Amino acid sequence: MNARIIREGIYAVGVQDWSRRLFDSLIPLPDGTSYNSYLIQASEKTAVIDTVDPAYVHEFMDNLQQIEKLDYIITLHSEQDHSGSIPMLLERFPRALVICSPKAKDLLVEHLLLDPAVIRTVEDGEIISLGDKSLRFVHTPWVHWPETMVAYMKEERILFSCDFLGSHSASSELYDNDDPAVMEAAKRYYSEIMMPFRSAIRGNLKKVRELEIELVAPSHGPIWNHPEKIIAAYEDWVSDRVENKVVIPYITMHGSTGKMVDYLSKELIRRGVKVELFDLSVTDIGKLAMALVDAATIVIASPTVHVGPHPMVAYAAILANAIKPKARYAAVIGSYGWATKLVDNILGMVPNLKVEVLGAVICKGEAKAATKQELSDLAAMIAKKHRKL
Ligand code: FEO
Repeated sequence: MNARIIREGIYAVGVQDWSRRLFDSLIPLPDGTSYNSYLIQASEKTAVIDTVDPAYVHEFMDNLQQIEKLDYIITLHSEQDHSGSIPMLLERFPRALVICSPKAKDLLVEHLLLDPAVIRTVEDGEIISLGDKSLRFVHTPWVHWPETMVAYMKEERILFSCDFLGSHSASSELYDNDDPAVMEAAKRYYSEIMMPFRSAIRGNLKKVRELEIELVAPSHGPIWNHPEKIIAAYEDWVSDRVENKVVIPYITMHGSTGKMVDYLSKELIRRGVKVELFDLSVTDIGKLAMALVDAATIVIASPTVHVGPHPMVAYAAILANAIKPKARYAAVIGSYGWATKLVDNILGMVPNLKVEVLGAVICKGEAKAATKQELSDLAAMIAKKHRKL
């Protein structure tokens, strides 16, 4: 059995996916990911918490080769990278019960074609005894699906959290060991998956804070042996606090918009505002998403393509609208050759952003003195707003 011991009777039996570079065919994974699964062999019952992506089911089943009985398959989240190997696990252990939240039952039946008769749902706060160990289920909806829950083992003070508090990174290390790279991977993960659900996560964090936790064992990335750090980081990310920072995703075709971005950036910097630029023709959108976690202002910059924004800017705008950053202010800048509807089109793509639009600066061709003055005025307004944060 290729299992790694965490505590007596508790093993990591998941897999590392070192080569995966995209999640959901969208999210860049520069460091791969892992699909963590945990085996608990207690005095009376044996349970597995979460399974692995079906692409790795054979490695997973090898990790469980020496297990003779399985009573419970606990699924904290129904997305297939954790639940997808349940049918194969049930083939091997047909008497096992699948334990999930009430909202997960329908999802498991619809997505995995599970027989409803093998599923038992657990209520918020319900405890299942495994003998000398127990699991208390805490419903934590919207991390990042409606059915998500966590499991707390009070005997060992371990919180099994699935996607919640996780990080996309493959590693030979079982624990985070205070490695800043793990925290960066966790922030990337939060920004792309969790950020739209900030208010729900706040409530979930309060529930987590009521527990005494020595280890947070997520289903992606290393186990947190410094749990306070990731919980505090989440509390900061979901708070309303924003930084004196402007994020500028942009594209330039013949250089006009690029020069405007450069001019605006320098005007902001000399007013004491931090700036992060993302040239969308080359950027890692995960880095852009991370920058949006705490930026106070977003300035979207685009040239005009057939009277609208460049398609890569439209893509970034739609992504920003989906992940709902907590920015307070926004602006649009850009250029055109002969006609444009840039501003209306871009603002129409971000209805989820609860921002005050500070204005737009659009110029025909090269930025001239009047456009530069407008950009200076925009920088001054942003700096003034940021001073009041
Ligand atoms: Fe890791 Fe939402 O699945």
